[in-house]
Amino acid sequence: MTNQLKGKVNYKIEGNIAILEVDNPPVNPLSNGVRKGLADSINKANVDDAIEGIILTGAGRSFIAGADISEFGQKPDGPDLHTTLREIEFSKKPIIAAINGAALGGGLETALVCNYRIATNNAIVGLPEVNLGLLPGAGGTQRLPRLIGPSQALKMMLSGAPIPAKKALSEGILDAISENSLIEDAVLFLKDKLGQNSHPKVRDDNKKIIEARGDDNILAEAKGFASKTRRGQFAPSKIIACVEAAINEDNFDDAMKKESDYFLECLVHPQREAMIHIFFGERAASKISDIPKDTTLHQIKTAGVIGSGTMGGGIAMNFANAGIPVLVLDQDEKNLNRGIKVIEKNYQIMLDRGRISAKQKDAVMSLITPTLNYEDLSDIDIAIEAVYENLELKQKIFKNLDEQTNNKTILASNTSGLDIDAIASVTKRPDKVVGTHFFSPANVMRLLEVVRGEASSKETMATVMALGKKMKKAAVVSLNAPGFIGNRMLAGYTYQANMLLLEGALPNQIDNALESFGMSMGPFRMLDLVGLDLGWRARKLAKIKSPVTAKISDALCELDRFGQKNSKGFYNYSEGSRAPNPAPENEDIYRSISEENGFTRREIPDQEIVDRCILALVNEGAQILSEGVAQRSGDMDIVYINGYGFPIWRGGPMFYANKEGLTEVVNKIKSYAQLDKNFWKPATLLEKLASESSIFGEAPSEDAREPKLTFKKDITGV
Ligand code: 3HC
Repeated sequence: MTNQLKGKVNYKIEGNIAILEVDNPPVNPLSNGVRKGLADSINKANVDDAIEGIILTGAGRSFIAGADISEFGQKPDGPDLHTTLREIEFSKKPIIAAINGAALGGGLETALVCNYRIATNNAIVGLPEVNLGLLPGAGGTQRLPRLIGPSQALKMMLSGAPIPAKKALSEGILDAISENSLIEDAVLFLKDKLGQNSHPKVRDDNKKIIEARGDDNILAEAKGFASKTRRGQFAPSKIIACVEAAINEDNFDDAMKKESDYFLECLVHPQREAMIHIFFGERAASKISDIPKDTTLHQIKTAGVIGSGTMGGGIAMNFANAGIPVLVLDQDEKNLNRGIKVIEKNYQIMLDRGRISAKQKDAVMSLITPTLNYEDLSDIDIAIEAVYENLELKQKIFKNLDEQTNNKTILASNTSGLDIDAIASVTKRPDKVVGTHFFSPANVMRLLEVVRGEASSKETMATVMALGKKMKKAAVVSLNAPGFIGNRMLAGYTYQANMLLLEGALPNQIDNALESFGMSMGPFRMLDLVGLDLGWRARKLAKIKSPVTAKISDALCELDRFGQKNSKGFYNYSEGSRAPNPAPENEDIYRSISEENGFTRREIPDQEIVDRCILALVNEGAQILSEGVAQRSGDMDIVYINGYGFPIWRGGPMFYANKEGLTEVVNKIKSYAQLDKNFWKPATLLEKLASESSIFGEAPSEDAREPKLTFKKDITGV
């Protein structure tokens, strides 16, 4: 029995054509009301003798964004999608999908049961289910290979990336593109076909799949692609199995049955819940609890980036990619020229790899203008400072920006850990000062921590979050506290990795254990990549004694082992290769430093390695939540997945802890306290939630929060 129906389908008649408009704002997912509305409307059109053809389109900016993701994991309600799609596929009257925007997942699958497909120029089509731990379960794995061939279909389904209308037309997914009025063009297209005796059905088009029979390369290539790009994920192998069925099964419905069975396996798999948590988590992270949705935004039409190094260049690329003209300022002409050359080279690589066209490259490069003069920044809407981490230098730049830019310009610092309020204090507009912590390389990494200073205004915050969305970033708000969210959590993780090394595990074992857990790169491979010498040189310069956890890395530096940059660090690297090989010559150093510092080396189980590193993240995350530095636990999951290589299919560290059970987490932390009682103290919030059999969620209300960590405390995590 259907309870409440969500979404509807509007029914209009134009001459002898019925126009069905899916209406379920904002993006028209196939919620129960839409499924019912579609089935009812098709029946209505089929029994009306005056109707000869049907157009199916979407209201607003989307065609259909897929199945209603919020229904997964809930009790099924209303007609099922398969029944609705059968009504469309076996309609007595021809149907054309008029794709007015995104046709994704079940949305494209709906279009694929129509006889014809026409789209606007700016429409996109794709089967992104894999990003949700699912497979296209409404016939997509069977129909798309029939239209574009199994090899291309596998690429689309395994990458999950949508393609633009033009490409979809050339691949054969679309029959036409409308350059003018979509509905008018759809009417013309359909009227042209009305006289035909029959109309094509994708299910009957077997040419491309028969051609693929016996070609083992297709599936082998797909498996190779999936193992490289989707390590540890469950759905990809099931997508491949579905396409294998499409190729080899003689009967369409038998293969469809397999698709349904595999879909169900994905649906009940824990990865599906974790990945859907991330889908909604990313959207939740973009909202700031005390800032209304309709807050007026400062329109960002032009921007400036201060500093033309790696970060500055990457940030400038983000602006250009979003279509925003950007001035790149550097005081040193040589650095500036070099920086612009690096940007140009990065775009050239994208061009060489077929990711952009020469025209697109020219277009983005034309949006980037180098300058040596602050006066040129007078009219920009936002400035992002991206120089090296030094408070005095940043303050000097902000003073300059405050004087040289108009009083509406937002001033942002790309600091990874300095006090935003201290930076804002030198300006006359602290309300327009904010932190924008991009992750390196800034043109590639999706994470953006937006740091809210004491005085950052609601307008400033809302504007920068909207800018993050325009740049296609996963933007997360952090209050202004040491390490913000990500690096503060990382401190304990790195500390534990170094302690495990001192206690007896080897870098290879630690890295392998964490990579088997799903981390994209173990901590020692990461340290080698970043360079061991950075911390070592900084400590030397500041005449700081190495903390015990940095002693091994510092000893390696003393032996000129700096990491990948000189082919030796925790690992050895062959000339020109980034593949890490174990370095047995380091083991004497590990042993002697352990001994000198009072450690008795022992065999350490992999599970202990994973527990100690991951629970260090979780416990600090709990503390961050209790201080309100992050608004909700899901925000930390977004940070860790998009900035630190945490596996998406585990849903992030806080979701992982919720699934493990917070009581179990507290018990483990308490048991590790026997090894190191100073480090292992369960956060008060964690203990409280565990005692209530509850889980991490929203930060406590302001009056119930713990005091925020202040910038006086050193959190360096080596
Ligand atoms: N189901 C339910 N809600 C959805 C949804 C969906 N398929 N797609 C988007 N939404 C919601 C979002 O959660 C958001 O809600 P909020 O305003 O409360 O935060 C709202 O719609 C707007 O979404 P976005 O902020 O993402 O809007 P954008 O304009 O930036 O992007 C989009 C639009 C490209 C359509 C993007 O929303 C998107 O990629 N959606 C998901 C597409 C997808 O994964 N489809 C496959 C679903 S699974 C499936 O179809 C299974 C089938 O094979 C059986």
